[in-house]
Amino acid sequence: MAFPQRRPRRLRTTPAMRRLVSEVRVDPAQLVLPVFVKEGLTESRPIVSLPGVHQHSLAALDDVVEQAVTAGLGGVMLFAIPEVRDADGSGAVDPGGILNLAIARATAAAAGRLVVMADLCLDEFTDHGHCGVLAHDGSVDNDSTLTIYGHMALAQARAGADVLGLSGMMDGQVAAVRDALDAEGFTDTSILAYSAKYASAAYGPFRDAVESELTGDRKTYQMDPANRREGSVEADLDQGEGADFVMVKPALPYLDVLADVAATSAVPVAAYHVSGEYAQIEAAAERGWIDRRSAHLEAVTSIVRAGADIVLTYAALEVAQWLKER
Ligand code: PBG
Repeated sequence: MAFPQRRPRRLRTTPAMRRLVSEVRVDPAQLVLPVFVKEGLTESRPIVSLPGVHQHSLAALDDVVEQAVTAGLGGVMLFAIPEVRDADGSGAVDPGGILNLAIARATAAAAGRLVVMADLCLDEFTDHGHCGVLAHDGSVDNDSTLTIYGHMALAQARAGADVLGLSGMMDGQVAAVRDALDAEGFTDTSILAYSAKYASAAYGPFRDAVESELTGDRKTYQMDPANRREGSVEADLDQGEGADFVMVKPALPYLDVLADVAATSAVPVAAYHVSGEYAQIEAAAERGWIDRRSAHLEAVTSIVRAGADIVLTYAALEVAQWLKER
C-alpha cells in the first residue's frame, strides 16, 4: 500500500501548530456590540428571548460603554425604545428623543475610545412598526421616508454619532442621508449601509427587544432570502451613493452573499450576527445540546472567514474575553 503523498493533518498536530497556521484571526477591535436603551427605565431589564442581553436605562449606558472599551471592542450600535410612538415616527427626529439622548450619552462616555453607531430607521418610532411612513393605501412610502431619514440623520449627527446605521432598506436612502449631512456640514459623519438586508425569520428576538408594533412583514423592502445576485447589486448601489461601509444581514445563512460582496467591495464590509442567530445558540446551549463558547467563536470566525471586516454580535463582550484567553 502506498503512503499518502500529502498529509494535511501535519499542520493540525498541536495547538501551537494550529495557532501558527490559522488563516483567520478575529480581533475584538472588529466587533461591534448592539445596545438597547429604553426610555423611562431606571434599572436594566433582561430580554427573555435574548439571554444575557438587556434593555438599558440611559444612565446605564456609561457602564456598558466602559465595558465595551475595556473589552477592546471596535464600537457599539445603539437602538432605542421610546415611550410614545406615532405614525411618522417623530421621536426619531426630536433632539430630545431617547435615541438621540442615548447617542449623546454614549459619545460622551466613549470619549473617542470606540466608535459610536446609531440605528437609522423608523421602526422603533412608528406606531405601525414599519421602517418607513405609510402612504394612504397602507404601503410603505419610499420617498416620503427618505425626507424623514434626512432629518433623523441630522439629529443623530448633532447628537454626536460617529456612524449612522441605515437599516430601513428604502431605495436611495444612502444618497438622501449623505446629502442631508453634507448640506449641514456633517461631512465627517459616516454611513454604514445595511445593504443586503434580508426579510429574515431571525429578527424575532430583536422585535421583542424593541417591543415592535409590527403586524405583517417587511417583504416589500427587505430582500427575498432566495436572491443572491441582488445582494451585490444593493451593495454596489450603496457604494455609488456614498456608503462608507456596507453590511450583509443576517450573517451565517448568507455567507455566500457576504463572500460575493466582500470580493468586490471597495469599502469595509460588516455582517450582523442577528438576534435569532444568537438566540439559537443560547437556546441549544441552555439545553446542553451545544457548547456555547465554541458555537459563538465558530460563528464569528466563520463570518470573518467569509469576508467580514466587522461583525455585529450580541456576544461581543464575551467573545472578546474568550479571544484574550485563547
Ligand atoms: C430595523 C432593524 C432590525 C434589526 C436591526 N435593525 C429589525 C428588522 O428589520 O425587523 C434586527 C437585528 C436583529 O435581529 O438582531 N431597525
